[in-house]
Amino acid sequence: MPTPDWSDVLNIGLPILDEQHKQLFAIADDLLSAIARGEGEAVLKDIFDRLKSYTKYHFKEEEEYMRRIGYPKAEEHAAEHVLLMMRVNTLWRLIENGEIISPKGVSLFVSDWIVEHIMDKDGQIGQFAKAGA
Ligand SMILES: [Fe+2]
Repeated sequence: MPTPDWSDVLNIGLPILDEQHKQLFAIADDLLSAIARGEGEAVLKDIFDRLKSYTKYHFKEEEEYMRRIGYPKAEEHAAEHVLLMMRVNTLWRLIENGEIISPKGVSLFVSDWIVEHIMDKDGQIGQFAKAGA
């Protein structure tokens, strides 16, 4: 399964946020597995709704954390979250329309979205937090 596996390089060194990122991975994995099993739209929508609400919750938590520690790029980072949320919605529309239903396609979309953001942008929050600690 081309699910992007959780690996230690994705740890940003902030346990609460790392746990939330792992949870996001787990839900994305559920989605990919369900697609691979050929589940129908109702099941996929259910998992997708979980992905969407957990993403929303996580972004809010992360944004609060950034502001709490006085992270200088908090606003810029929050703006990227808005774009990512739009991509999550786009992903669902594509699935709904049957345009992107292969596990590989969804996996690429998810890894591009989650992995790149976590490794680059979220990693910078971790570095800032450590430098200031
Ligand atoms: Fe983030």
